[in-house]
Amino acid sequence: MDNGCCCCSLVMVVVAVLCSFRVGFSVTNDVHVKNFISWDDIKVDEHQIKLSDSRVNRNRTRVIVVSKNGEADSVTVQGAIDMVPENNTRRVKIFILPGTYREKVTVSKSKPYLSFVGNAGQMSNTVISWGDKASDKDSNGTSLGTYRSASVTILSDYFCATDITFENTVIQTPGEPGMQAVALRISGDKAMFYKVKVVGTQDTLLDETGSHYFYQSHIQGSVDFIFGKSRSLYQDCLIESTAVRSGAIAAHRRDSPTDDTGFSFVNCKINGTGRIYLGRAWGNYSRAIYSNCYFDNIINPAGWTDWNDPSRQKTTLFGEYQCRGGGANTTGRVPWSKKLNFEEAKPFLDKKFIDGAQWLRL
Ligand SMILES: *[C@@H]1O[C@H](CO)[C@@H](O)[C@H](O)[C@H]1NC(C)=O
Ligand SMILES: *[C@@H]1O[C@H](CO)[C@@H](O)[C@H](O)[C@H]1NC(C)=O
Ligand SMILES: *[C@@H]1O[C@H](CO)[C@@H](O)[C@H](O)[C@H]1NC(C)=O
Ligand SMILES: *[C@@H]1O[C@H](CO)[C@@H](O)[C@H](O)[C@H]1NC(C)=O
Ligand SMILES: *[C@@H]1O[C@H](CO)[C@@H](O)[C@H](O)[C@H]1NC(C)=O
Ligand SMILES: *[C@@H]1O[C@H](CO)[C@@H](O)[C@H](O)[C@H]1NC(C)=O
Repeated sequence: MDNGCCCCSLVMVVVAVLCSFRVGFSVTNDVHVKNFISWDDIKVDEHQIKLSDSRVNRNRTRVIVVSKNGEADSVTVQGAIDMVPENNTRRVKIFILPGTYREKVTVSKSKPYLSFVGNAGQMSNTVISWGDKASDKDSNGTSLGTYRSASVTILSDYFCATDITFENTVIQTPGEPGMQAVALRISGDKAMFYKVKVVGTQDTLLDETGSHYFYQSHIQGSVDFIFGKSRSLYQDCLIESTAVRSGAIAAHRRDSPTDDTGFSFVNCKINGTGRIYLGRAWGNYSRAIYSNCYFDNIINPAGWTDWNDPSRQKTTLFGEYQCRGGGANTTGRVPWSKKLNFEEAKPFLDKKFIDGAQWLRL
């Protein structure tokens, strides 16, 4: 940094200013917990990884590389997570090279600020896959239940992921009990998923608790395949139904009119097979809103169901705002669902719904 300081050209001054700015920035990064998610958190400089073969460098940049060929830091995703210290206060990026990782993965509550990053454009070839279902037994002979069926479970805050597929391989047979099989369970607060794919059939995505942002992602399933109690925005997503006959997309759980939770789908495309409901009322105050979405002709004309509890018709908020496509004709909708006007839709239309200004810097 001191080299060339005697040179007084304007160029050098500019370079010096830029340098000190960069140093200042990285120091700030190291010392303080960064309580927001930005694009940097899902970027890994591959060139830099190749150059820095030593573990020293990798530790400093906090990138842990996962590869099936045994030449990186870990051959499993869980192995990489296990290398992260408990109560870590800095972003750690787990860079996952293409491959199918057949393992059940858990990020515990005590490991916040983790990123799962796949190779750009390799989302479909970078797969974390397992195949437990609700009726399967654990080592004590107790049924797993839906929540513990998850292939990947994220319990920590400030998680983000990109270019990864989360998969549960169980294929639900209609009418058979115990077939709930979660691919991804997210229950940490403040999480972002960008260009990820979540694949399963019944109960694919357990969007359990917290505020979450799903952007340009692909979620596939048949029955209640996005469910939970979160406050989540699904923007520019592809929601693909594999239902054979009937099915449902959103099963949002909300038990009180004062809960700020709900599922908001904005500018999403819904296609696939079957005849599916947009949502089912899991809980008296269930909320699900679709705005500016495209629906293929696979939506049950009724649109929504009260989960066999007519009292819920008065307290749920199920709405559509300016959706289009063959499935968007609202003529046959249940009378208790709402065709929203702009003012009513406004709180659900952007990242304000998930308090994004507080924790997303995109
Ligand atoms: C780098 O991190 C790994 C995993 O936590 C650890 O085993 C290793 O000792 C670290 N290396 C250095 C030089 O700190
Ligand atoms: C992490 O933090 C929790 C809660 O403060 C504490 O109980 C635990 O001992 C900490 N773990 C380590 C390894 O420091
Ligand atoms: C099995 O039961 C024991 C004793 O109750 C408990 O400590 C353990 O966590 C259980 N194992 C599983 C997989 O639930
Ligand atoms: C749904 O849309 C996606 C993206 O446009 C497309 O690739 C896919 O083939 C469609 N699926 C069906 C069943 O139409
Ligand atoms: C839902 O509403 C019904 C009918 O008003 C009531 O009996 C039930 O206790 C409510 N459930 C919850 C979890 O509040
Ligand atoms: C909507 O559906 C109703 C009832 O099936 C039909 O009469 C009407 O023409 C449809 N509207 C459009 C715009 O397709």
